[in-house]
Amino acid sequence: MALERTISIIKPDAVAKNVIGQIYARFEQAGLKVVAAKMKQLSRQEAEGFYAVHRERPFFNALVEFMASGPVMIQVLEGDNAVARYRELMGATNPKDAAPGTIRADFADSIDANAVHGSDSQENAATEIAYFFPQTDVYGR
Ligand code: TYD
Repeated sequence: MALERTISIIKPDAVAKNVIGQIYARFEQAGLKVVAAKMKQLSRQEAEGFYAVHRERPFFNALVEFMASGPVMIQVLEGDNAVARYRELMGATNPKDAAPGTIRADFADSIDANAVHGSDSQENAATEIAYFFPQTDVYGR
């Protein structure tokens, strides 16, 4: 198994619901280690830059507005197959389709306010980690 890193963002809806700790417990139960973390209020510009791949999608403006609507909790997770393992923990994009017991099934309200972000590939994980954390702020192996 490959030791990987991925980025996780607890979105404004989940931060507002005060479930950061419950979501962190799921990382730990799945064997994913938090190796960097910060709480941050994203500017519109920072949210746009982060989601630049979605710029042409119809939901882009709403997504940016939502991500900049309140503080988020951003962390780097490290573990075996961390990208896929964390995607599994998150559940489907639309909480209505998310498997029972996943973070989105338990904490998300809608497809747009869906509690968490997770990188979808190792390549994107590397880009997203570098977007928020200088290398010296990541304390993994
Ligand atoms: P996407 O990368 O497709 O999903 P995921 O977060 O599961 O990797 O979409 C990014 C975010 O954009 C998604 O978490 C919520 C938002 N979004 C919408 O608001 N409406 C939509 O129809 C889709 C597909 C996504």
